[in-house]
Amino acid sequence: MAGQPKELDRLMRERLLETARAAAAHAYAPYSRFRVGAALLFEDGSLVTGCNVENVSFGLTSCAERNALFRSISERGAVAENGEQRRILAVAVTNLNNMASPPCGACRQVMAEFAAPGAVVLFPGETAHGVEIVERKLEELLPYGFRLDGV
Ligand code: THU
Repeated sequence: MAGQPKELDRLMRERLLETARAAAAHAYAPYSRFRVGAALLFEDGSLVTGCNVENVSFGLTSCAERNALFRSISERGAVAENGEQRRILAVAVTNLNNMASPPCGACRQVMAEFAAPGAVVLFPGETAHGVEIVERKLEELLPYGFRLDGV
């Protein structure tokens, strides 16, 4: 049975990426034509998706990752049935343009608010072999995020 958890991990990663890709198909991106999808995996095993939604007033555009997180909280609250804050274990972000798309800084900060320690982000990144799915800890992507000490 050695190696089974790793296999499950691989399947879960594939499922997360597939789910993010499906969400990207819903994107409203007539201005950039850059369709992004995000899938959040929470500690309770639930998956919540989001896509980017643009606006003719460009600055009002809302990213896929933040839409997914805000959707999760809006629909079921920030606190789980066990009374603890819902936490994200993993996030997949992808786009339908086959381009590198690491999450933007604002989304990193927002995801960090609800991330479990060691939470990972999967995204298409620029590598020595071209654009490939890379995995990074959110702590690596946002080493000095904003915090209010003591709160
Ligand atoms: N976008 C996201 O959805 N997530 C990010 O992390 C960065 C960018 C969207 C916003 C805009 O609709 C399009 O990608 C191009 O910037």
